[in-house]
Formats: sequence, C-alpha cells, structure tokens
Amino acid sequence: MKSKIINGFSKLTKEEKLNKLISLFEDKDAGKDELKSYWHENPKKQQLFDEFSENTLSNFYLPYSIAPNFVINHKIYHVPMVIEESSVIAAASKAAKFWADKGGFRANVISTTKIGQVHFLWQGNLKKLQAEMPEMRSIFLKSTDNITKNMRERGGGIMDIELVDKTNEMDNYYQILVKFDTVDSMGANFINSCLEEIAAQLKIYISEKENWTDTERKCTVLMSILSNYTPECIVETRVETKIENFENIDPELSAAEFVDKFEKAINITKIDVYRAVTHNKGIFNGIDAVVLATGNDFRAIEAGGHAYASRKGKYQGLSDLEISNGKFSYQLKIPLALGTVGGLTSLHPLAKRSLEILDYPNADELMQIAATVGLANNFSAVKSLITQGIQVGHMKMHLWNILNQFNANDQEKQLAVEYYKTHKVSYDSVRNFLSSLRIKPAT
Ligand code: MEV
Repeated sequence: MKSKIINGFSKLTKEEKLNKLISLFEDKDAGKDELKSYWHENPKKQQLFDEFSENTLSNFYLPYSIAPNFVINHKIYHVPMVIEESSVIAAASKAAKFWADKGGFRANVISTTKIGQVHFLWQGNLKKLQAEMPEMRSIFLKSTDNITKNMRERGGGIMDIELVDKTNEMDNYYQILVKFDTVDSMGANFINSCLEEIAAQLKIYISEKENWTDTERKCTVLMSILSNYTPECIVETRVETKIENFENIDPELSAAEFVDKFEKAINITKIDVYRAVTHNKGIFNGIDAVVLATGNDFRAIEAGGHAYASRKGKYQGLSDLEISNGKFSYQLKIPLALGTVGGLTSLHPLAKRSLEILDYPNADELMQIAATVGLANNFSAVKSLITQGIQVGHMKMHLWNILNQFNANDQEKQLAVEYYKTHKVSYDSVRNFLSSLRIKPAT
C-alpha cells in the first residue's frame, strides 16, 4: 500500500502538501506538474479558490455552458449550466427551443418556508413543557434579535416556533421546530446560528425553573440544525400544448401515439422505483447544473428533492402529466431552497457572472429557472427514450470524449465528426476508425 497516515497535513503549505502526495503518482513530477497546471495564473484569483475549501491542491475544472432560449413566464433566459455529462446541455437547449414557440414555461413559487430543528431530550410531563412555550417563544425571538435583524429588514426572519412531541418514537425526545423565511439567501448559516442560540436559551430556561424537579430542570440538547427537507419551499413549472403539436416529433409515431407512450412512461415512474430514480436523475441533470453554476448547494437540493419524491410513502417520479381536452400539460413541482445572495453566490466569480447573465434573479426567480431546466431535461430524456432511444444522441455528444481519450489530433477529429454523421458511435468503432487513419499506407 502506497498511502501512509500523514500527521498535521492541514498545517502544511500548499507546496508541502503537494510534495507529501507526489509519492502516490507513478510519475511523481508529471503528477505534480499536472495538478499545478490547473492553478490559476493570477495568484490572487487562485487564493480565492484555495480559500473556498481546505487542503486545496488544485482546481477541478468542469465545463461551464449555456443552454439558450428558455422562455419562462414570457421572459427569455440563456441559462448557465455546469455539467460534465455530454448531451445534457443539448437536451436542455432542444427542449427550450421546442417549448419557446408554444407559450414557453410557466413557473411560480408556491411557498418559501425553510425549517430548522433543535432536537432535545427532556423527562417530565409534556403539559408542563407546553405551558412554558409562549414564554420560551418570546425569549427565543428576543435572544435571536441580533442575528435576525438584517433578515427582518429584508422581510424575512423567524416565522414560527413550535414544540414537537416525538416521545412516541423515542423516549424523552422533543424538538423545537422553527420556521424561517430567508428571503433571497439560501440561509443555512443564518438558520443554524438562530438554532444554536435557541438551543442555548432552551437549556438555560429549563435549568432555571425553580419549582421543577431536578430531573425536569435537565434538558439534553442533541443537535441544532436546519433541515434540507424543504417541502414548504416549493416551486412549480409547467408547459402545455395541443396534442396535435407533436405530429412531427418522430417519423415513426403519430402525435397521439407519442403522447400515449409519454403518458405510459410517466405512469411507470409512479409504479416502479428503479425507473423513478433514473427519471428523477434526468431532472437533476438540469437542476444541479444550474445550482452549481449559480454557486448553490447541489447536495442540499438533491437530498431534499429525493425525499420529496418519497412523500407519498413510495419513491416516485417528480414530474406529472395531465392530458385533457386534447391538451398535453407537463409539470414539475419540487422543493428548491436556492439563494441569490450570500455564500458562494456572492464569492465565486463565475457564480456572480451566472446571476448577471440571468439578469440578477431573486431567489424565487432562480427557483423557477432551475426547476424549468430540470423539466426541460426530463422532457428531452423521456422523448428520446420513447422514440429513437437515448444512445444515438448521447454517443454523438460523447464522440469528443472518446476522441480525446485516444488523443486524436484536430485533423482526426474533423474526419471523425464527418464520418459519424452517418455511422453509429461506439468506443470500439472510434478506436478502429482512428487506427485505420493512423496506419500509414505501405509505400
Ligand atoms: C441520463 O443522464 C439521464 C436519463 O437516464 C434520464 C432518464 O432516463 O429519464 C436519460
């Protein structure tokens, strides 16, 4: 085994960290040079990236692309997306174009409440604790006054505080459940700061109840943390068109046949978890890419979205299709706790540029954009799956990756692109194609 425990790694300089790690490369110098080659040439810019995280050795590049021509609530957006998967941008762009002349996407934010919890243990009569809630609530609000001041000035803050009895599920387990409006910020730090203050006040309040027993005056705070499940921070986006508008969507299917297959495909996502997960993955192809490009937290978005997909007690596809009166109406309703101020959105130079390209959306607008791109990608995926299949388009886009794996030069790439306009792309076929180019004819 090449790796050994490294003590005090975080205290080393960047160069020293690199030197500690180069023994893991087969070619030490080449490995080190490779990592360094992705450092930004401007040391100030590099420092900014170094400081986003810890133990930073280099920058991991991903493509930053644009899916143009999204019409959302009659406004045109060219949407920045960060994603490595070939074909996601093409799929989003195609769907944007398809729907642009059919009224575009209609999106609206249903609610923006976020939730945080103080989880604690307390032994005593529930009624006693309940009786203290009005007093505790006002103490909690007062003690978080400093933290919430700015947020309140922007129209947000703490919206509600309640006691939740969980003793049926675990002995002595209660929660203080706090509802927040964080306006245009994602608000994780704000929420967690409020919760930790509330937890501290809870402990003090309970310990100072003079006429309570020793046991009742003890409260164990287990943890104070926001929830990434945000079923009250919901956005909805939809497209609608007459069924007859699908007449030319596929050479082999009539509009009615296309819609029938589409409907069955969506029904399957409500029945079968294996299909539902992949279907939702296609939705997150679009959403995550926008979330990343705007400096938001894609892990939070994914976790909350998948939990929401299970809200009916069974994991299901997140998009819904309605067919009535000759109309095809496709929609996505999803929790998206996004922000456009604070955190990385205001620090990452490209995240800031993304927001500029999007005309400085507020959080509600960004929720609408991200959900719409998710629905667009999902529409394209289902359309491909029920017609020509996914691989034709996918492999066409993947061609560049395969060519790069074989170190194809510009001329070889040009010839390959021409050849694969009429041939099926596969890894083996590209290898053979390049070998045939590279074999010099005998003289
Ligand atoms: C691939 O990244 C996404 C799809 O698998 C989504 C789907 O199956 O709906 C094509």
